[in-house]
Amino acid sequence: MTIMVTGGAGYIGSHTCVELIEAGHQVVIFDNFCNSNIEVVRRIERITSAAPVVVRGDVRDRDLISATLAKHRCEAVIHFAGLKSVAESVSHPLLYYENNVLGSMSLVQAMQDVGVGKLVFSSSATVYGDPVFLPLTEDHPKSPYSPYGRTKLVVEEMLTEVAQSTNRFKIAILRYFNPVGCHVSGLIGEDPLGVPSNLMPFIAQVAVGRRPHVNIFGNDYNTPDGTGIRDYVHVMDLASGHLRALEHLSRQDFIQVNLGTGRGSSVLDLVQAFSKACGKDIPFVFSARRDGDVASYYAATDLAHKLLGWRATRKLHDMCADTWRWQSRNPNGYGIVPDQVSA
Ligand code: NAD
Ligand code: UD1
Repeated sequence: MTIMVTGGAGYIGSHTCVELIEAGHQVVIFDNFCNSNIEVVRRIERITSAAPVVVRGDVRDRDLISATLAKHRCEAVIHFAGLKSVAESVSHPLLYYENNVLGSMSLVQAMQDVGVGKLVFSSSATVYGDPVFLPLTEDHPKSPYSPYGRTKLVVEEMLTEVAQSTNRFKIAILRYFNPVGCHVSGLIGEDPLGVPSNLMPFIAQVAVGRRPHVNIFGNDYNTPDGTGIRDYVHVMDLASGHLRALEHLSRQDFIQVNLGTGRGSSVLDLVQAFSKACGKDIPFVFSARRDGDVASYYAATDLAHKLLGWRATRKLHDMCADTWRWQSRNPNGYGIVPDQVSA
């Protein structure tokens, strides 16, 4: 089928496009390129030998979305487009509500305009907030601590109510834990603008010599080695989770599912695994805890397995080895020198 992938030029979207094309689907990337580079489309084509259709547009543009859905006879939408920086959402909350909440609303309205009902939505484990218990099951209380997290929860609630109001929509809400890694080819990967705020891209830039050392935010947490524990999940496993979710919507109208491995790894585990993968030491220094960080979180994965037959298969070593392949072959990502961009 033909699937519109909003934000399909971004990190998770581009990997999911590869997975969809390789499964025999046609892909229409709908992206305003505010956090991505057109080069990714050429790379997707190199990997899959198929050229995705690309429409440069904003998800807040309801008319352009409905025209695109109709023109390409799309049967489903995977909705990645949105802004994702926790820190930026604190300084610019309205920007986040406009992009993430209004963008999602205009997308759903456009889908309704043209009668496209299947939707997979990118949510985040951040909707749970500080864990009351672990592992985080899908029915864990929701208490996001940032405007970014709240935009995800608002959209989840909007989609839940839309699904309850009509049987014309079939909706899968996927809550990602910590997506890392990249396609095994090393042709596509994560390419953050400016200084990476997430751990894996930061480590990768240290490994390639772009930054002197990793700052480890806190070594006094109540965890075995004192550093924060997260559930890192390979982006290609996530991509296959989207395919499974889309297929599942032929059987069930509404699902909310975690995508994680169920295994927690500490910051030091990740630094050590990356050292092993790249064959050199990764220098690090311990620094103060980062505001808003929690000691530990990881997913309950039973529901994803039960509903979707999905489990993450790739290990920490694969996540690091694939990231290293991408970063060492593309030290400046898709060609933009990040420090020049942010200056
Ligand atoms: P990304 O920034 O790499 O990709 C997002 C894409 O959406 C970019 O190509 C950007 O240009 C595009 N975009 C943003 N706003 C748009 C708009 N208004 N109209 C059209 N296009 C727009 O981010 P990602 O890491 O690939 O994340 C994809 C989705 O998954 C996001 O919704 C994010 O909140 C969610 N998510 C990401 C993570 C993570 O760690 N990366 C974790 C949980 C959830
Ligand atoms: C962050 C976001 C979260 C978002 C997720 C995926 C915050 C507070 N949370 O989650 O909302 O859903 O990214 O995009 O921003 N760390 C270091 N040094 C670094 C970077 C991180 O020690 O330079 C540590 C952190 O303290 C944490 C772990 O590494 O323990 C993972 O951090 P990160 O990759 O930023 O992800 P999260 O904080 O889990």
